Amino acid sequence: MDMTPPNALFQPLNVPSKILMGPGPSNMSQRISDSLSLPILGHLHPETLKIMDDVKLGCQYIFQTKNEVTLCVSASGHGGMEASLCNLIEPGDRILLGVTGLWGHRASDMAKRYGAECKFVTAETGSALTLAQIEEALVKYRPVLFFVVQGDSSTGVLQPLEGVGELCHKYNCLLVVDTVASLGGTPFYADKWMVDVVYTGSQKTLCGMNLWIEVEGISFESCYSD
Ligand SMILES: Cc1ncc(COP(=O)(O)O)c(C=O)c1O
Repeated sequence: MDMTPPNALFQPLNVPSKILMGPGPSNMSQRISDSLSLPILGHLHPETLKIMDDVKLGCQYIFQTKNEVTLCVSASGHGGMEASLCNLIEPGDRILLGVTGLWGHRASDMAKRYGAECKFVTAETGSALTLAQIEEALVKYRPVLFFVVQGDSSTGVLQPLEGVGELCHKYNCLLVVDTVASLGGTPFYADKWMVDVVYTGSQKTLCGMNLWIEVEGISFESCYSD
């Protein structure tokens, strides 16, 4: 080899203990840290399949859902957002995004790449959307999908979700909820609240690794997130 190895490779990794002040605080529990030093299994070992089944049960519990399509992916919260949107949007679809901070616009940046026509319903600064505002926008735009954030980390707004699923289904619209900064810190009921798709990022309030769930796959624009 022409290059010599960098000096850092010969030093022990020095990771100080800090309090992580994201939504949480979000330091990993000892149980999760310990699990990272367990032996590696192959993806076809029966023990791997059992662990995956157990993880799925855990995910169903935290999302409060019996949905079979409940799974973990190795990605950050944006990976869950992208997987949810790219599997639901077909080019030309009109979608509605709730704006309670910056995340509704972030989701629209992604949705536009999948060919969506994006419409917005915007809450008053520092406030959540009301059911009346959401219904008015559903009637006006007739979207196929409504995206909303439960806990908007850019403003601290907590969006109540009771009744939103019923409203969306009344207007034949799927409900997608971002719980990246809220799951584990505030109640969430995927089935009871009739949420069609929800994802989270477990590095925040859940103090672990990343997860999302999906109900229905439609298009295949993104190969990796499909
Ligand atoms: C509400 C919300 N959604 C999505 C994300 C994106 O998550 P990540 O940074 O893990 O990609 C964040 C990150 O702060 C967030 O607060």
